[in-house]
Amino acid sequence: MSFRHTGLILALAASAWGQGELWTPKAGPKPQLNGPAVYGARPGHPFLYRIPCTGQRPMSFSAKGMPAGWKLDAATGIISGTVPDKTGPVEIVFEARNSAGKDRRNFRLEVGDQLSLTPQMGWNHWYTHYERVTDKTIRNAADAMVASGMADYGYYYVSIDDCWMVKPGSTDLELGGPARDSAGRILMNKRFPDMKALTDFIHAKGLKAGTYTSPGPKTCAGFEGAYQHEEMDARTFAEWGFDLLKYDWCSYRNVDKDTSDAARQKPYKMMGDLLKKQPRDIVMNLCQYGMNNVSSWGAAVGGQSWRTTGDLGLEKDTRLPGFYSIAFKNMVLDKYAGPGAWNDPDYILIGWYGDPRTTYVPQKAKFTAHEQYSYMSLWSLMASPLFFSGDMEKLDEFTLNVLCNREIIAINQDPLGKQARVVRKTENELVLAKPLAGGGLAVGLFNLSDAAAPVEATFADLGLAGSVAVRDAWRYKDLGKAQSKLRAELAARSVAVYRITGR
Ligand code: GAL
Repeated sequence: MSFRHTGLILALAASAWGQGELWTPKAGPKPQLNGPAVYGARPGHPFLYRIPCTGQRPMSFSAKGMPAGWKLDAATGIISGTVPDKTGPVEIVFEARNSAGKDRRNFRLEVGDQLSLTPQMGWNHWYTHYERVTDKTIRNAADAMVASGMADYGYYYVSIDDCWMVKPGSTDLELGGPARDSAGRILMNKRFPDMKALTDFIHAKGLKAGTYTSPGPKTCAGFEGAYQHEEMDARTFAEWGFDLLKYDWCSYRNVDKDTSDAARQKPYKMMGDLLKKQPRDIVMNLCQYGMNNVSSWGAAVGGQSWRTTGDLGLEKDTRLPGFYSIAFKNMVLDKYAGPGAWNDPDYILIGWYGDPRTTYVPQKAKFTAHEQYSYMSLWSLMASPLFFSGDMEKLDEFTLNVLCNREIIAINQDPLGKQARVVRKTENELVLAKPLAGGGLAVGLFNLSDAAAPVEATFADLGLAGSVAVRDAWRYKDLGKAQSKLRAELAARSVAVYRITGR
């Protein structure tokens, strides 16, 4: 069957897709291992990893080639231990078995200085709970990450954003009070009784914990920041057991009005150096909205990812929902991305989330199904961190279908670590192409118009030649061979993501 012919069949299917149509095929009962093929960790630090795997439980996990002293819980697939002291690669093979079958997957631990060799994946509380966040909402999110199956697809950070600290001057009995103890150590507000107990709870599931602060005296929401307490706060975050810090500019603008690159880098370099000194791996996510072309220096100051734009939730909708314009700004920064260095266009806002332009109260996303699949496709092709920020307690089948597609996630997590390049962008069309390890290519064809339309990319545009094999990543379907061009008939604001091999 020629690919053009397949394109016509897709055309018929496309016109019938409506809101709620599920593209991702259901995972079967057999074990299917997911997760990155490469993973960076620093020598001598604690190691924790939950092997992501779909399939029927009970399941039994095993691994070959694990460093001495590592423990693997056969029933849960949770590995814990200490990263070896010797730098360099450690080749491990994971295996999962159940009554329906077995699966194997290679995992290369790269012991060295680099973290986040593939984009981070997880959940962040901001767009659902805002200032309302509590210990309980975070625990519920961790529970839901496992119960919903998200963890089986590789989501693992459970991140607290702003508002866990004290809000100086607040008359709210839960939020107010002294911000630090007599030694200057930061205190939580009353909604967080015990941070260490909370990260223990998250870690017991094999997941990781993220936290947040600002280099300024106050966070964006007016809570206690790290200014002049950086060293103690970095140490405290490590002692509490955090694995990620989002460091948000906010009131630092009042501390230093100098807009030079050096001044803008200074607080991040300071925190980056402090985090590196801690006895555990803590990933740093810079949040300063893209100032001074942060993509060109975020890695040099110790960051593993950096926000490239303002808040996605505040972005104005034009003809297109705001996530598109955020993506348009982020997608031209592809040359700066690579293993351990990711452009971050902010979170994935689908499912139920609170709109910060209106009430902050979670509501069902107003995008069409096609737009939501497009959103996830953009983030995957851009090698963006995949952080869902909708309500973990209201995950419906459709939202999970968008978030949990193993082949789309594999494109995002591809070990080559390239961000897609823009092949074509017009008013009505977008074509992105992301080189993959092993010589493959992931191509996204996006229809940005308000009506159904075909979107094409020629082999010349894509750097392809001859005849290549094409697979529809969203539907896990081989489409046959293509020569000379790729083409998809797409509903309004829909997308096709093709994985090309044999080029
Ligand atoms: C903003 C940041 C958001 C969120 C918020 C918290 O500056 O971009 O992602 O963290 O602060 O107050």
